[in-house]
Amino acid sequence: MAVSAKHRLPSRLRAAVIGCGNIGSRRSENKKMPGVLSHAEAYRACEDTQLVAFADANQDALERAGNLWNVKQLYRDPATLFRTEHLDMVSICTPDATHAEVLRLAIDAGIPAVLCEKPLGMTHQEASSLAAQAEARGIVLAVNYQRRYDPMHRRVREAIQAGEIGQVRHVSAWYTKGIVHNGTHLLDTLRFLCGEIVRAEGLNPRPDPSGDSTPDAVLTFAGGFTGFVHGCSAEAFAVFEIDVIGSHGRVRLVDEGHVLEFYVMGDSRYYPGYRQLVRAPFEPSEGLRDPLLHPVEDTVRALRTGARPACTAADAVRALELAQEIAHTAATRPHPPTGGGVTQKGIAWPS
Ligand SMILES: NC(=O)c1ccc[n+]([C@@H]2O[C@H](COP(=O)([O-])OP(=O)(O)OC[C@H]3O[C@@H](n4cnc5c(N)ncnc54)[C@H](O)[C@@H]3O)[C@@H](O)[C@H]2O)c1
Repeated sequence: MAVSAKHRLPSRLRAAVIGCGNIGSRRSENKKMPGVLSHAEAYRACEDTQLVAFADANQDALERAGNLWNVKQLYRDPATLFRTEHLDMVSICTPDATHAEVLRLAIDAGIPAVLCEKPLGMTHQEASSLAAQAEARGIVLAVNYQRRYDPMHRRVREAIQAGEIGQVRHVSAWYTKGIVHNGTHLLDTLRFLCGEIVRAEGLNPRPDPSGDSTPDAVLTFAGGFTGFVHGCSAEAFAVFEIDVIGSHGRVRLVDEGHVLEFYVMGDSRYYPGYRQLVRAPFEPSEGLRDPLLHPVEDTVRALRTGARPACTAADAVRALELAQEIAHTAATRPHPPTGGGVTQKGIAWPS
């Protein structure tokens, strides 16, 4: 029987967080910016939820979160928590490679709503099988590709759809730390802002010991324009940026997606008779405020009303499918030889 048919929802949903690391709890300590920054904090801040339990394989992390949020029901493994606690909702905040296993436990336990950190699994096959199981049981399955929930990113999508930058012509984007780990987040955001990606080819594989490479990619959008994705080294810094140029304007999402630059066509400030892109006001101009509150509130809304979550399992599966295609084509296509004539700074000058 579908979970929603047999499960009566209380006025305040009983929620648990699995994984008490950064995004599960710790980002709410010693904040560098205001706002709701962890799943645990979001369940506290949301009027519709109460935080009743944590699970973490690490005892120190578990106790630290328990003390911070004054939660007494603490478990070393998710299966015991799911067997013992009566839950309406759960957040999965464990490392990437464990999401599928914890999600399977949550589905088997029949928890009515799951908010899973990204990615939904390590492969699209694994993720899509779990998504089908959740759907068959009537479980709301939302994925935290957080830019889909963010008011600024949602407004940017509306602006692009409404033609505020004219027809989209060019897309460029930059990411670090793995095509599955962060690349799926970038690909999902690009699909959200610019429409479906119908073809994805990788190049420059940049393998990583974790198995999650950080290749470049060339994307073909259903709208007929091309996107260039740059996989950057995270040795010195992280980057996550998107630049969309249209026939009449431009949108740049910079500073890790926290800052928006909006441009429209205008008269050149330098040359008479020339037109250039000029900065124009855009509201909201800052993104990712209360980044965890929005996904929790949206998942509650999906559970209570039957509406689709802002980021569905199908979205997460598609991002994984594209990432795998990029990793595969990057790894199997021939590469130009490197080495000869390259200076210490990595630049090969023509002789
Ligand atoms: N949506 C976003 O923008 C965003 C941002 C940061 C992290 N994340 C995602 O959140 C997840 C967690 O990231 P993090 O930085 O908080 O990691 P973390 O390493 O800080 O925390 C993970 C916690 O999970 C625990 N854990 C590991 N395996 C477990 C298991 N099987 N059962 C129970 N507990 C287990 C660990 O002991 C640790 O405390 C990752 O998948 C990451 O991709 C998403």
